Amino acid sequence: MRLYFLIFIFILSSNLNHAYINPTWGATGHRTVGKIAENHLSKKAKKQINKLLQGQSLAFVSTYGDEIKSDKRYAKFYSWHYVNFPFDTKYEDSDKNPKGDIVTGINNCIDVLENEKSIHEDKIFYLKFLVHLLGDLHQPLHVGSSEDKGGNDIHVKWFGQGSNLHRVWDSNMIQSWNMGYLELALNAKNLNKQQIDAIKKGNVLDWTYESQNLAKKVYKSVRINEKLSYKYSYNHFGLVRSQLQKAGIRLAKILNDIYG
Ligand code: ADE
Ligand code: ZN
Ligand code: ZN
Repeated sequence: MRLYFLIFIFILSSNLNHAYINPTWGATGHRTVGKIAENHLSKKAKKQINKLLQGQSLAFVSTYGDEIKSDKRYAKFYSWHYVNFPFDTKYEDSDKNPKGDIVTGINNCIDVLENEKSIHEDKIFYLKFLVHLLGDLHQPLHVGSSEDKGGNDIHVKWFGQGSNLHRVWDSNMIQSWNMGYLELALNAKNLNKQQIDAIKKGNVLDWTYESQNLAKKVYKSVRINEKLSYKYSYNHFGLVRSQLQKAGIRLAKILNDIYG
């Protein structure tokens, strides 16, 4: 009896450590991106987005891309959250995922939103997905290596708990900071007009390479099975915050371009 109990506890605890591959910035990260974007929207864009989303905020819909992952009907979008290609290869020259990736995914969303012939339901769906994907694009490890699935296979400990490098960057650091998305958005760095304009420069592919360059550094920041805690956040949470801010500003830029 006691042995069964011990086996039961063992299985339970090992499942807790390996329960899931975390797919994306956690909810708080995505909502922060949505909130920051709202602060940079034009009046016109705000009005049209409000109409489409019937009053739901960008922060609220930002997690939609992950919510639909539990519904098999949306399986065709699984690969849209990331892109993996070799660090020494141009995206243009790399083998593409035939199911799509975050680059083609974002461009697909923009195409639907720009097309006057798109049906209403599609406009809503792809707007919500776009909000989500701009966030994902700025998680450096969403432009990672396929060998380790963007760091998902690099096991580390986070405050004594089993985790992996990808999850540390998706959610562990943000969760440990223990602020809500409104507080994180409110405490984003004050930027002047030139700084904001510099962030808006470029296109989806430029921002993909930017994330890839950051990913190279992120991979070098840990050893396999390393025990991470306060020091890691101290060294890296600043980058998480600036990536969330860039994502929000660039999302607003795309939406302002679409909705005039
Ligand atoms: N699955 C495979 N590669 C991934 C990545 N880079 N990011 C998120 N999920 C993934
Ligand atoms: Zn995602
Ligand atoms: Zn992720």
